[in-house]
Amino acid sequence: ELSKATHIQWQQYQIDAAARARLKGHQSAVLWFTGLSGSGKSTVANALEQALLARGVHTYLLDGDNVRHGLCADLGFSAADRRENLRRVGAVAGLMVDAGLLVLSAFISPLREQRELVKSMLPPGKFLEIYIATPLEVCEQRDVKGLYKKARAGEIANFTGISDPYEAPLAADLVLNTAQSSLEQSVDKLLALLANKGVIA
Ligand code: PPS
Repeated sequence: ELSKATHIQWQQYQIDAAARARLKGHQSAVLWFTGLSGSGKSTVANALEQALLARGVHTYLLDGDNVRHGLCADLGFSAADRRENLRRVGAVAGLMVDAGLLVLSAFISPLREQRELVKSMLPPGKFLEIYIATPLEVCEQRDVKGLYKKARAGEIANFTGISDPYEAPLAADLVLNTAQSSLEQSVDKLLALLANKGVIA
């Protein structure tokens, strides 16, 4: 993305991502959870974060509901606003990766182009895409926040899966379906992926 500011230069510092990784004892990366509202993104990310903490891994969880209270409080759910929401999150995740953290992000991020944008903002190999493929019927039946009911009643516009699109990833690093596997199984698969990618030991 082009910056509006001119006459600014990138500052190089002596302490870089590699030095921080040595200190922390693991690599940094972004685990990007994508899926419908109610698919289980936050639940899985939350359980994984607990397992990682127990292993001494330095993490941070970025989550749509929380970010939209602050950093992105000015944004709604149009395609342009969702893209800007995710662009900001991508920038923050990039800083956290530089800081040596293993970032878990739970955003619907409905369009492939939006997820590609985030990936393009991170150093090569740092973006791992996790598709929470819980079917719409299951998400709607759970309706934890009562939003599907409201969306069906026409009280929420642009609701993902009902009146707004969701494009499933074509080449996710991992696909999980929380209707079919237990939370523990999902966490085990994620830990295996992270070990396999050399992020954690
Ligand atoms: S996005 O598309 O990535 O920018 O969305 P995200 O920042 O993850 O925010 C999704 C949460 O916002 C609530 N919500 C909606 N979701 C989808 N469509 C519409 N129109 C909408 N309005 C509010 C909803 O609680 C989502 O939370 P999750 O955790 O995904 O259920």
